[in-house]
Amino acid sequence: MTGYSHTGPGQQLQIVVVGHVDHGKSTLIGRLLYDTDSLPDGKYEEVKAVSEKRGMPMEWSFVLDAFQAERDQAITIDTTQIWFRTAARPYVIIDAPGHREFLKNMISGAALAEAALLVVDAEEGVREQSRRHAYLLHLLGLRQVAVVVNKMDRVGYAAERFHEVKQEISAYLDSIGLTPTAIVPISARHGDNLARPSYKMSWYDGPTVLTALDGFHPISAPSDLPLRIPVQDVYKFDDRRIIAGRVESGQISVDDQIVFSPSNRIATVKSLEAWGSPQPPIRARAGQPVGITLDEQVFVERGDIISHVSSAPVLSNVFRATLFWLGHAPLAVGNRYRLKLATDEAWVTVEAIEHTIDTQTLADEDADHVDRNGVAEVILRSTEMLSLDAYRANPATGRCVLIDGYETVAGGTVSLEGYPDQRRQKGPKSENLTAVEHLLTADGRGRRNGHRGAVVWFTGLSGAGKSTLAMQVEQRLFALGMQVYVLDGDNVRRGLNRDLGFAPEDRVENIRRVGEAAALFADAGVIVITAFISPYRGDRDKAREAAAEDGFHEVYIKADLETCEQRDPKGLYRKARAGEIKEFTGISAPYEPPETAELVVDTMTHDVEASVDLIVDYIRDRLVIRNRPTAVATGR
Ligand code: ADX
Repeated sequence: MTGYSHTGPGQQLQIVVVGHVDHGKSTLIGRLLYDTDSLPDGKYEEVKAVSEKRGMPMEWSFVLDAFQAERDQAITIDTTQIWFRTAARPYVIIDAPGHREFLKNMISGAALAEAALLVVDAEEGVREQSRRHAYLLHLLGLRQVAVVVNKMDRVGYAAERFHEVKQEISAYLDSIGLTPTAIVPISARHGDNLARPSYKMSWYDGPTVLTALDGFHPISAPSDLPLRIPVQDVYKFDDRRIIAGRVESGQISVDDQIVFSPSNRIATVKSLEAWGSPQPPIRARAGQPVGITLDEQVFVERGDIISHVSSAPVLSNVFRATLFWLGHAPLAVGNRYRLKLATDEAWVTVEAIEHTIDTQTLADEDADHVDRNGVAEVILRSTEMLSLDAYRANPATGRCVLIDGYETVAGGTVSLEGYPDQRRQKGPKSENLTAVEHLLTADGRGRRNGHRGAVVWFTGLSGAGKSTLAMQVEQRLFALGMQVYVLDGDNVRRGLNRDLGFAPEDRVENIRRVGEAAALFADAGVIVITAFISPYRGDRDKAREAAAEDGFHEVYIKADLETCEQRDPKGLYRKARAGEIKEFTGISAPYEPPETAELVVDTMTHDVEASVDLIVDYIRDRLVIRNRPTAVATGR
């Protein structure tokens, strides 16, 4: 997460205690409360009595059971949080282990921890949930983690066993990029190395649990990041409208020009309002709730994101997310869920499961579904435009949650890799433009050529056969006396589009220009065949809009990745696999196959000749004008 601040003693720190079941999380917490004198009055006696009644030595985990019992009765009191304090500062243990909603709260951000204690049993060593929970911390970007190796009493306080377990957990944490601030051998039951160094482990000279905790830093709200205020509500007071939200990152001042996403509406901040403050503030920072009035009325609703114009979130209806799956039913391609993004909600469909990650072995796997407790990188598509921040750039707004019915089924982080920002200038940049009408008509041109002009838009993976087929179709149509021309990716990128690369935005612009150029060709009466990967469905739809009605024919040149990679006519797949080409379609950049192409040509089942026949027949059927009249003198 961003920005550790050193705001001196006293600032409360939120921690979470994770680890495998029965490795001693509850005992550790119970004992921590006792050792820091934080138990409520009478609790110690209560727990002692219960322990004795059951013929047990002092059972510290009963402290949590006692809290749990209160929790079950007291619906109104939030007792999922447990407080204690050291000499340095107060702590809140958020969402005590064993709590049903524990993992859900963690992934949904309901409980945002600043640091974590990972408990591992000295006898059992690292287990399934030790790894899973550690992975979750990593996924959520929690970097401050201390490990406690518990139940050292059970292994005779042996240094060797501690080092074995230490080695084991360090290796795992290291492989996910987590470096623990400390690894402490303890016995929670006997209080060894919790508040005081234990004479039973004189071989250990590292910190105790309390010193490890006091070594963590509170995480300050990220004021230095771009401004983000998710709109919670819009209130009407008299004739004023106040937009309410919490500043999640950055700062906002009176007179700032702000933009609302995804509507892209712009306004200026007239005033800021803070409840319970006599003087209206002129600035609000990350972490503060704020009310905003504008200089003009613009339509704003819950879910909108407020930012500054120059650093707005990305707009896209499709994005990648790394999800921790908690649903009882598996996540599968095609499933629909309710997405929660800050204060916004939208329906999303799982378009693809890119890969799943086994949190135990960290192996990357291909799978068509994800089971409970699995982690997966998926592509989610919405019918609505979403305001997105990558989690890496902004942890406050870059997380998402999926809901199925009433159940929180997943939480995770947003990535913007592979998809372009769809925020665009709406109309042309220049004003004062007047369209000039041609004196010739499409019909006139068609009569002379014997066919209508049209865009025949090939799309497909590199190596699917687009260029080969385009050139042969061109040759065949020419021989039939037709006006035809191929616009090919590799050619156009050497001239008109030589300023463009393969980043998502560049591909968007590549296809935009080609779409417009193709529409001009078609308007001139030519049958123009375009051979571009054109990986984004939205861009192909835009190219269709640029062409005349019924003048656009999408042809999916279909071959799967495996086939294309085998053919590899230009040796590019090999290079891409070797990491020499970044953002290569199919390997490290997305391809969205058409859903409603006018023609699908499967080049895995059709050879070149059969494919060319299919396309030529299609074009002749649709574009040739039969019973061609002879007089075409005026072109009208
Ligand atoms: S598009 O994605 O913007 O539509 P376009 O069709 O113009 O791509 O160009 C694709 C051609 O560029 C491929 O056939 C290949 O020869 C070459 N190329 C070079 N780098 C890449 C890359 N990273 N991804 C895809 N194609 C690439």
